[in-house]
Amino acid sequence: IEKEALEAIAAAADLDALDAVRVAELGKKGRVSGLMGSLGKMSPEERKENGPKLNALKNRVNDAVTARKTELEAEALEKQLVTETLDLTLPPAPGPKAGALHPVMQVFEEVAAIFGDMGFTVAEGPDVEDDWHNFTALNFPEGHPARETHDTFFMKAQEGDTPKVLRTHTSPVQVRTMMKQKPPIRILVPGRVYRNDWDATHTPMFHQVEGLVIEKGTHMGHLKGCLIDFVRAFFEVDSVEARFRPHFFPFTEPSAEMDVKYTRKGETIEIGAGDSWMEILGSGMVHPNVLRNCGIDPDEYQGFAFGMGIDRLAMLKYGMPDLRPYFEADPQWTRHYGFAP
Ligand code: PHE
Repeated sequence: IEKEALEAIAAAADLDALDAVRVAELGKKGRVSGLMGSLGKMSPEERKENGPKLNALKNRVNDAVTARKTELEAEALEKQLVTETLDLTLPPAPGPKAGALHPVMQVFEEVAAIFGDMGFTVAEGPDVEDDWHNFTALNFPEGHPARETHDTFFMKAQEGDTPKVLRTHTSPVQVRTMMKQKPPIRILVPGRVYRNDWDATHTPMFHQVEGLVIEKGTHMGHLKGCLIDFVRAFFEVDSVEARFRPHFFPFTEPSAEMDVKYTRKGETIEIGAGDSWMEILGSGMVHPNVLRNCGIDPDEYQGFAFGMGIDRLAMLKYGMPDLRPYFEADPQWTRHYGFAP
């Protein structure tokens, strides 16, 4: 048996043939296995004599199979190496085109880095917001026209559910943060916001960055200093002429829009000095009602907040004339105005 088995193994021309031999000898119904099985019917003396011999036979056949297997595998590899040649002179296949960071993302990262240096951390909230967080908690009276001035997208209410809106500003994240975090608070909130509006400078979805600071003894001077420092860092100018023009927001009192002086040089706009004012953000001291709605005692803590459209900031800083291509996902536009990551 051993001689036959070893011959068959040596003769196996490929891995399949070898496996057939292995099954015929060592498989459950194989010849060698059969011999091993016969041990059970022998007397103890016979078993003592034949056991080790049969075991050794089994091992030799097994080793022969393994050795032949290694041989055949090496042969197969050799064959593959000879037949599959690589032409190193071929030009490479065109790879994927590198993308670019969208200007809005780039600008958000710049803004976050500047405020990060002032101790702000990033917070986020949902795009689909409820009426309470978007309006009521922010001191918009029920049925007040201010709710309409936002051109709100109202969502169809689910049965038994509170009415939902697409958030019209990032300010509801002020509320969400104050509800779950004790002051002192310094957060920066990037996010998409939605208003029913569409022209060269308004898109129905756009991006805001909101800031909120709640600390004991905060006053208007902190607000002004913080925002002027931000504008200087963002537009990379040593000084800016800025003015805080009284305004109205339900959730801040007093409220102010911040204007900066600018100069138009042909197509480009330089921020900092010049003969015209441009509005760049809304701000104010957090209204005591808002603090109270969020469980913060206005006699103990004060704070300021601001919000700005970062699509417009990107337009200004990088000289993009039209807001609409921002959201048309044209890769050529992104490569032109975008930033290599
Ligand atoms: N939420 C306001 C807006 O969208 C901006 C703002 C934020 C104003 C924070 C004051 C304080 O117009």
